[in-house]
Amino acid sequence: MIDFHTHILPAVDDGSRSIDESLLMLRALSEQNTKKVILTPHFYADNESVDSFLNRRNEAYELLKAKAPSDSPNTVLGAEVRYYAGIGHLQELKKLRIDGTKLLLLEMPFSHWTEHSLSEVLDIAGRGNITLVLAHIERYLPFITGNIFQRLAESGVLFQANASFFDGFFKSAKAIKMLKENRIHFIGSDCHNTSERRPNMTTAFQTLNRRLGEYAAKKFFDYGNQLFLQNQI
Ligand SMILES: [Fe+2]
Repeated sequence: MIDFHTHILPAVDDGSRSIDESLLMLRALSEQNTKKVILTPHFYADNESVDSFLNRRNEAYELLKAKAPSDSPNTVLGAEVRYYAGIGHLQELKKLRIDGTKLLLLEMPFSHWTEHSLSEVLDIAGRGNITLVLAHIERYLPFITGNIFQRLAESGVLFQANASFFDGFFKSAKAIKMLKENRIHFIGSDCHNTSERRPNMTTAFQTLNRRLGEYAAKKFFDYGNQLFLQNQI
């Protein structure tokens, strides 16, 4: 199982505040049957340059790698990139992809899509060197109206849902429906700490097993792995 969205790197964003907390989060994910963890600290273009962000991120990663036990899940560097009008012109956008892949985790604003934002996202998706993955898709549902979903999907955009979407009877029913409609490709814990936003991949895993059955649940996670491999460069 891949945890596609985490804030585990120490002291890089509003996620883990220390290496000790990061190690606890990694261990929790290991106990939750998570084999691969994508490290996706927030990148806000209005706060700093891409290179400055990458330097800070990579330093934190060196520290994590030095301290993580050998039986920890496999970790891969990435970022959660906040959309802004004009992001398509950002020269270094490619550098924010998940390491070794074309995948880029994009966080959209919590407001209605405009024709401009949609065409900018579709333009990036159409370039061929970036596969966009929209972060925690369940948060944008009120804003994805009309045929926006369809146009995104037709352009090869993928969708990530948070594990918490699979918690609770009615919410998880909606999550499972979206998953069956191929509107969820990856699941992420979006964990920030060891308390109120802790790693919770078990929530999703158990719900999928219960509602879909073990075979179909495994097929879903296998499909995610396949998509990850297909996007390797
Ligand atoms: Fe996040």
